[in-house]
Amino acid sequence: LAQSPDTARGFTVCFLTGRVMCVVSLIFPFSLLLDLLPPGVCSLLNPAAIYANNEISLGDVEIYGFDYDYTLAQYSNLLHSMIFNTARDILIEQFKYPEGLGKYDYIPGFAIRGLHYDVQKVSCTKFSLLGLVFHCVLVLVEMLSVIELYGGTQHIPLYQMSDFYGKGPSLKQFMDIFSLPEMTLLSSVIDYFITHGIEFDQVHLYKDISDAIRDVHVKGVMYKWIEKDMEQYILHGDEIYAVLNRLVNHKKKLFLITNSPFSFVDKGMKHMVGKNWRDLFDMVIVQADKPNFFTDRRKPFRKLDDNGSLQWDKINQLEKGKIYKEGNLFDFLRLTGWRGSKVLYFGDHLYSDLADLMLRHGWRTGAIVPELETEIRIINTEQYMHSLTWQQALTGLLERMQMYQDAESKQVLLEWMKERQEIRSLTKNLFNPQFGSIFRTFHNPTYFSRRLVRFSDIYMASISCLLNYDVNFTFYPRRTPLQHEAPLWMDQLCTGCMKTPFLEEMVHIR
Ligand SMILES: *[C@@H]1O[C@H](CO)[C@@H](O)[C@H](O)[C@H]1NC(C)=O
Ligand SMILES: *[C@@H]1O[C@H](CO)[C@@H](O)[C@H](O)[C@H]1NC(C)=O
Ligand SMILES: [Mg+2]
Repeated sequence: LAQSPDTARGFTVCFLTGRVMCVVSLIFPFSLLLDLLPPGVCSLLNPAAIYANNEISLGDVEIYGFDYDYTLAQYSNLLHSMIFNTARDILIEQFKYPEGLGKYDYIPGFAIRGLHYDVQKVSCTKFSLLGLVFHCVLVLVEMLSVIELYGGTQHIPLYQMSDFYGKGPSLKQFMDIFSLPEMTLLSSVIDYFITHGIEFDQVHLYKDISDAIRDVHVKGVMYKWIEKDMEQYILHGDEIYAVLNRLVNHKKKLFLITNSPFSFVDKGMKHMVGKNWRDLFDMVIVQADKPNFFTDRRKPFRKLDDNGSLQWDKINQLEKGKIYKEGNLFDFLRLTGWRGSKVLYFGDHLYSDLADLMLRHGWRTGAIVPELETEIRIINTEQYMHSLTWQQALTGLLERMQMYQDAESKQVLLEWMKERQEIRSLTKNLFNPQFGSIFRTFHNPTYFSRRLVRFSDIYMASISCLLNYDVNFTFYPRRTPLQHEAPLWMDQLCTGCMKTPFLEEMVHIR
């Protein structure tokens, strides 16, 4: 009788009769699976929970800082197809790309964040070796599963890696949520060129497409759509109001540092919070040029008047209720004295918003990862739990039984390997048929995950998750076992296992 220790949820019973004859019940009843979980251990995670990488006590946090786009203002996915269509038309009209591209539409759910793109190496045939071709559309590299392309190794040489901000010489990492339409457009254009036998240089293609996408942002087209129809594009407005208001009522100070222009932020905040939104904030900084804001001391702050026009006086203090443009974090720290771990800053971009703060300045950081919500819903499905349990059970069997090398046993082992491979793909495809989860590539954490752990103290699907916690709540990270440590049942008792918001008084807001 053997028992698989590989997962808290996985038990496999197999009968050993002299040789390795393992009879595994292939139809593993789900009810049995749940029976095997000890009482008190949760099996369902809460998509509205806040997850901690480091211990942090909100009682110690006096000052809350926020990014704006995709942090305070969460946008609906409708925006992606608008960005895609506009950039595609810019390519056709201004860059004189083939008219035939016009028949490509945005494919929701095609790409995921955190993917790497090799600007020089991508080619369709090489990718089919990896089983990664999706009607020849698929040209993006999933980190850590790149074997054929890099001379039979899973490792990408350091000199080719993406640099600190995901912009290496040849590998680009797509990190912000705006890059979903960009990746889809890149794939569509390459698909068109390959299926029509048109020769092209990867490098030019990459540049043209990122320029077209940038035009959509920089020329302000996108701001206009959002301003015209806030109701349609901005999500969870009421909850954002509730979060900010509650913090202020508990004597917390608030500030905003965004790269967006004032008029745009002002309209969005008026929509979500009301026309007096500025009363809630001690400091508002627009067009900050992050990540340079955090690293470059040279740009001084400039003041905007109430109509949004630039002033020319030298800034010797940052006053409550005024709007500032540009500036840098060094001046910000000097003028406010807001240093160290009493400041908690929320952002959605791991590099532009959080990395420097965590690594250089010692503020606490919170990452907004909207994908958490959908991924946790998938993790909670019966199908996912079942596949994962089964996959771990098979892995345990393979590990234990590999020494049986007679012909018959080898055959069994081969079948198990094949089945494990199938289940692995199946589990991965539950998240996204092309690239799987943004957090894992098979069993390994993705590059995105590793950065998330490194650069954020806590992470959550949306700022509104804060409503579920007391203002003095302490977050404790779950103690995940290292490879040489035994897993403890008790480890499962913390974080995310609460099925409903814990604060009854906040329920009415939802
Ligand atoms: C803002 O604009 C209005 C109307 O153009 C003007 O009356 C007002 O004086 C301006 N305010 C400032 C601070 O310049
Ligand atoms: C949080 O802790 C502070 C300091 O211990 C205390 O003054 C305050 O009342 C607490 N707030 C709540 C809502 O429990
Ligand atoms: Mg942002």
